[in-house]
Amino acid sequence: MPSSSRVAIIGAGNVGATAAYALMLRGLFAEIVIIDRDADRAAAEATDIADANAVARPARIWAGDYSDVKDADVLVLTAGAATHGDETRTSIAAKSAAIVRGCVQEAMGAGFDGVLVVSSNPVDAMVQVAQATSGLPPERVIGTGTLLDSNRFRKRVADQLSVAPGAVEALVLGEHGDSEVVAYSTVRIGGVALDAFLGEQAFNRLEIAHDVMRAGYTINHGKGYTSFGVASAIVRICEAIHRDERVVLPVATRLSGQFGIDDLYLSLPCLIGAAGVLRVLIPDLSADERAALLASADALRETLADLE
Ligand code: 2OP
Repeated sequence: MPSSSRVAIIGAGNVGATAAYALMLRGLFAEIVIIDRDADRAAAEATDIADANAVARPARIWAGDYSDVKDADVLVLTAGAATHGDETRTSIAAKSAAIVRGCVQEAMGAGFDGVLVVSSNPVDAMVQVAQATSGLPPERVIGTGTLLDSNRFRKRVADQLSVAPGAVEALVLGEHGDSEVVAYSTVRIGGVALDAFLGEQAFNRLEIAHDVMRAGYTINHGKGYTSFGVASAIVRICEAIHRDERVVLPVATRLSGQFGIDDLYLSLPCLIGAAGVLRVLIPDLSADERAALLASADALRETLADLE
């Protein structure tokens, strides 16, 4: 495991560039390197971000190549196919898998030996492909998974309750996609369950759950892609790794029997530190939520089967 303060980002597209910029603003890493097969695009994004450096935190930011990943303690993989409009994330799985395999083979060939964070869609399948291709221990290969969806869930519940999003605990679990589980049983506001907090206040659970699940599509329709939400999830995971925080975040990890699910990446709450996923937690879900999680696992297995 390298002991540098370097993060390498593969993909200088909307997500990769936004993540690089957000990482620079956070002042987490002394070095941020952006790698893309379109070297001109990578150089332009690195220069543009570096131009903000004088009024942000000191960091060396450059457009590099795979030789730069050897000394990175975190490698972020954002490269992959993109969805448009109502295209499902799984519809681009085969195209993304080819890109992911190529990038990971290059990175491992260049000696990467840190923690790999994957956001390429469909992320649960892509992180599984990335781990299998890399040969890295599963705990060191993490997908952004439903951290993004959980943040969306927290924000929408907070808006309904007129509290700060940071005051709301709320988990979305399973696939980052159409089968995701918006787990209302996990909602707590200062330790108080949703129904107790609501009292007589009306709250449309189905509407909020649908809005959470559809958020990626809705944003995509408006701007042609999404970037800030998923980039913020990437940054939060990188921060947890880099600072060995031992924080609990819902991320895509390879299950080993949790809820009877084996050798499949999907999102559960994970304890995250410098070595990656330190522990996978098993929340106390309702029977309906457990059934939905198993259905999500089945949906992911179908996506993976189509890649074989
Ligand atoms: C999102 O939900 C596109 O998966 C990405 O924003």
